[in-house]
Amino acid sequence: MMAENRVLDDELVALLRQAQRVVALTGAGISAESGVPTFRDAQQGLWAEYDPMELATPEGFARNPLRVWEWYAMRRAQVAKVQPNAGHYALAQWAARRPGLTVVTQNVDGLHQRAGSDRVIELHGNITRVRCAAGHGPVAEWQEKAGEVPRCCQCDAYLRPDVVWFGELLPAAALASAEQAVAAADLVLSIGTSSLVQPAASLPYLALGAGVPVVEINPEQTPLSADARFSLRGKAGELLPALVACIGD
Ligand code: OAD
Repeated sequence: MMAENRVLDDELVALLRQAQRVVALTGAGISAESGVPTFRDAQQGLWAEYDPMELATPEGFARNPLRVWEWYAMRRAQVAKVQPNAGHYALAQWAARRPGLTVVTQNVDGLHQRAGSDRVIELHGNITRVRCAAGHGPVAEWQEKAGEVPRCCQCDAYLRPDVVWFGELLPAAALASAEQAVAAADLVLSIGTSSLVQPAASLPYLALGAGVPVVEINPEQTPLSADARFSLRGKAGELLPALVACIGD
């Protein structure tokens, strides 16, 4: 069902008010209003010159570790400069009113946490962290040296961003926690995601299969739109504050 953005449907308002165990699945779209390019933007706009297969795959890293390291260093610096937007803050406010709310994000920018959300499951890692490429775990501090990829102090392998690249498995614990949160949810929101990339895209379908309503927020139609109970066309930074305003305390 398409809902009017300005006047929220009564059934939608009732759904939002009643829900205690909300799962908010977020994608690149929720950070778009903070100035972090979505993957679609990346292919068309400013970042069109970059090939994701060279920058966000283990093979690309093996071919040219320095190029990949420098690209992530640039993105890390960009993310450090941007701020959470009204959409991120609205989810943190929602959680303050409904402590059962869990954010499950495909984003690696850490903006949910910076907005004050504390129950955040990161499916695709976090760009602010790095880890040993040979498996020696996360590294808290590293030295940036121009023209060099920093190395693991235990085994001398390269360090890499702690994100999930194309062709890699998601962190098993994060995926299991996300599935558990969805299994226990009474409302699932799908916000700012193209609903194309698996396995994250299947999470709303777990909810639908269990009869749990799904509300989508996206300016564009996605493969999920027709199956969602409500598919709201608009920006997360505008719609989420409106939804939070109507749930009350
Ligand atoms: P995409 O870039 O594929 O999709 C972004 C979605 O956000 C699109 O559907 C847009 O219409 C929508 N959008 C844009 N602006 C918005 C706004 N202001 N408010 C709400 N929605 C908006 O990003 P994801 O679906 O997050 O994976 O991509 C999923 C995964 O694909 C990423 O995590 C990444 C990528 O490959 C990995 O890196 C493993």
